[in-house]
Amino acid sequence: MKILVVHGPNLNLLGIREPDVYGKVTLAEINSEISDLGNELGLDLHIMQSNSEGDLVDIIQSAQGLYNGILINPAAYTHTSVAIRDALSAVALPTVEVHLSNIHSREEFRSRSFIAPVVLGQISGFGTDSYLLGLRALSQHIKK
Ligand code: DQA
Repeated sequence: MKILVVHGPNLNLLGIREPDVYGKVTLAEINSEISDLGNELGLDLHIMQSNSEGDLVDIIQSAQGLYNGILINPAAYTHTSVAIRDALSAVALPTVEVHLSNIHSREEFRSRSFIAPVVLGQISGFGTDSYLLGLRALSQHIKK
C-alpha cells in the first residue's frame, strides 16, 4: 500500500521555528518516526515538503493512480487554500489532515480549515503523534 506524506510551508523550519508552539523536533526527526511506523505497518511511503502552493497542488494531482492515500499537514495553506482543497477533492484519495499544534486553541483564523470538509478526518494538537495517529488511521481505513 502506497502512501504520500505531504508537509506544507515552513515545516522545513521545525526545530528552530516557534519552539514554544511546535517544540524542538525537526522535520527530519518527524520523518524518521513516520518511516519507522510505515515499516511497521507494511506501508510504502513517499514523503515530501514544499513551501509552494502550486507544487503542493501538482504533487497531489500526480498522486492519482500512484498512491492509495495521502497524509497531509497543509500548514498555513490549511486556512487559505481553495486550490489544495480542490486538488484533494479532484483526486478523491483517502486523506487525513494533521497538525502538530491544536489549531482550534490558537488564533481564531487557524480554527478554519478549507481542507477538513474534503478529507476523512483531522488530527490536531499531538505534536509528532498527530502524524503517527493519522498514519495509523489512514492505513486502517484503507485496509478495511
Ligand atoms: C500547523 C498549524 C498551522 O496553523 C500553521 O500555519 C503551521 C503548522 C501545525 O502543524 O500545527 O504552519 O499546520
